[in-house]
Amino acid sequence: GTGYDARFRIWRGDAEGGELRDFTVEVHEGEVVLDIVHRLQATQAADLAVRWNCKAGKCGSCSAEINGRPRLMCMTRMSTFSREETITITPLRAFPVVRDLVTDVSFNYTKAREVPAFVPPQGLAPGEYRMQQVDVDRSQEFRKCIECFLCQDTCHVVRDHEENKAAFAGPRFLMRVAELDMHPLDAAESEGLDRKRTAQEEHGLGYCNITKCCTEVCPEGIKITDNALIPLKERAVDRKYDPLVWLGSKISRR
Ligand code: SF4
Ligand code: F3S
Ligand code: FES
Repeated sequence: GTGYDARFRIWRGDAEGGELRDFTVEVHEGEVVLDIVHRLQATQAADLAVRWNCKAGKCGSCSAEINGRPRLMCMTRMSTFSREETITITPLRAFPVVRDLVTDVSFNYTKAREVPAFVPPQGLAPGEYRMQQVDVDRSQEFRKCIECFLCQDTCHVVRDHEENKAAFAGPRFLMRVAELDMHPLDAAESEGLDRKRTAQEEHGLGYCNITKCCTEVCPEGIKITDNALIPLKERAVDRKYDPLVWLGSKISRR
C-alpha cells in the first residue's frame, strides 16, 4: 500500500493538568485525522479520550484544535498536511478539559438557554404562516449549524478571556438572536421582549468587533458575521440612536 508513518503530538491530561505526548502512527490514503486518533486508540493508547459520533461532519462532536486551529477531526484530511510535518492535536482551548481531547462544552448549553424561544404570532395557526423566500433562506442558512462550537472556541472575546464569558453569548448564539430578531413572524415584541436590546444588554453583542474568525472556522460555511452579526448590529444601533425609531417604539408599546 501507500501507507506512511506520521508524527503526532497529542495533548493528554485532565482538569488537573497534562502535556503533549509524541506518537508515530501509520497513515493510509484517504484518511482523516479522526481515523488516526482511532488507530492510536487501537494500537498504542487505548484510554485516549475523544468524542465523536457520525464521522461525516454532521454531529459536531469531534471538534478539536489541529495545529492550533479549531477543526472537525473527521473532516480534516491527512492529505492537507505534508508527510514530514508533526501534527499537533489539542482540546478546544476556550472550554475546560475533561480528559485528553474531550472538553466540557456546557458553557454553550447555558448560553442557548439564555435566548428566549420563537414567539408564535397571535391568531395564526402554524399552517397559516406565510413568509417571503428571502426570509426562509436566511433561516435555513442559520439552521445548518451542527453545534460543533468551533466558532465559540475561536472567538477572541472568550478564547483567552474567561472573565468575558458571563456577558457574551458568542457567535453561535448571537446568530440565534439575529435569526429570531429578523424572523418576520416572531412576535417577541408583543410580549415586551426587545431582542435588539437584549442582544446588546444581555448577550454582549457589543463585544463582537467583527473579526470574522468565527465565520472562517465554521464547517458549514455559514456566513455568521456578514449575515447574522453585522445585520443584528445595524438593527440594534438603529433602534438605539434613531430618534424616530425610538419614539415609534415608545408609542407602539402604550
Ligand atoms: Fe459550528 Fe458553524 Fe454552528 Fe458555529 S455556526 S457551532 S462553527 S456549525
Ligand atoms: Fe467573535 Fe465572530 Fe465577532 S469571532 S468578534 S463573534 S465576528
Ligand atoms: Fe460527527 Fe465529526 S464525528 S462531526
